[in-house]
Amino acid sequence: MSKIITIERFILDHQPDYARGEFTNLLYDIALAAKVIAHKTNRAGLVDILGRAGAVNIQGEIQQKLDVFADDIIFRICDHTGRLCVMASEEREEIIPIPEPYKKGSYVLVYDPLDGSSNIDVNVSIGTIFGVYRCKNWENRGRLEDVLQPARNLVAAGYVLYGSSTMLVYTTGQGVHGFTLDPELGEFLLSHENMRLPEPPGYYSVNSSYYESWSPQIQQYARWLQGLDGSNAPKMSARYIGSLVADIHRNLMRGGIFCYPAERGKPHGKIRLLYEAGPLAFMIEQAGGYASDGRRNVLDIEPTDLHQRTPFYIGNRSLVHKAEYYVEQEIDLTRDA
Ligand code: AHG
Ligand code: MN
Ligand code: MN
Repeated sequence: MSKIITIERFILDHQPDYARGEFTNLLYDIALAAKVIAHKTNRAGLVDILGRAGAVNIQGEIQQKLDVFADDIIFRICDHTGRLCVMASEEREEIIPIPEPYKKGSYVLVYDPLDGSSNIDVNVSIGTIFGVYRCKNWENRGRLEDVLQPARNLVAAGYVLYGSSTMLVYTTGQGVHGFTLDPELGEFLLSHENMRLPEPPGYYSVNSSYYESWSPQIQQYARWLQGLDGSNAPKMSARYIGSLVADIHRNLMRGGIFCYPAERGKPHGKIRLLYEAGPLAFMIEQAGGYASDGRRNVLDIEPTDLHQRTPFYIGNRSLVHKAEYYVEQEIDLTRDA
């Protein structure tokens, strides 16, 4: 019989050498936030029905949108624990300093509280993405420079997927490990130890409705992915959910690539560097994969703005390198012109 290992046990047994209680407990906090958000997510479709019947909102509370709720939960679970010096969320314009009188800690938390928001109201998988950095500055609380770090500096990153099951997948730089929430026990149990991107890859994920807005080289790459251009393309199927977490999770399980290229009028694409691309790039490398903006490793991009976006290619190495090959030609064409 296989052993039953809770996320608490696993984090404790695998904590990196530098980790003191602070880092380990921060990961517990994130797991707790994931459970609260999962609970709320599972009831999202019932809110109107039960609300009309008077079973909820008896105090006349106004239902928050799920992404605002998720943002608030993560903040309220993490603000007072003394483990963080600052946070930044995709939902908030500015950095989130740790409020006085709470003690400040040594870590920085960046997060996309609810990813795939267009899927919330249609009962399709959504997620949460997070990344943890070390605080650069020990004297002050809440400095922008602590948040604007390249993803190579991350000490932990991961995501929570609210799908047919709730899963928490994370890395601390020692492999990628997946846990599935047992809703009756209320515990995340180890279900996928040391996840690796399989070969050959099974899927490519890109929103082809933007085809006309891509450069000719990206259009050519998309045709290559579809097996329509040249003979050396791997045989893959198309899958696109529109929730980055769900698309990446499927591709991590089956092998593949997710692309969100630059477009005419959107030179940086859509994906946010700090809350989405960076943490996922850190994680995919731990699973044997690679993430690029088409020209360089996403881990090497120095962020200059909290909400900056980046073209994004992530998945099996060979497929991402092929994307870089096409983007490189794009540059050459520009030079020739
Ligand atoms: P968010 O819901 O956090 O704003 O992120 C949405 C992102 C990402 O989850 C997804 O991959 C992408 O938007 C889909 O965008 P398109 O609808 O343009 O394909
Ligand atoms: Mn998102
Ligand atoms: Mn979001």
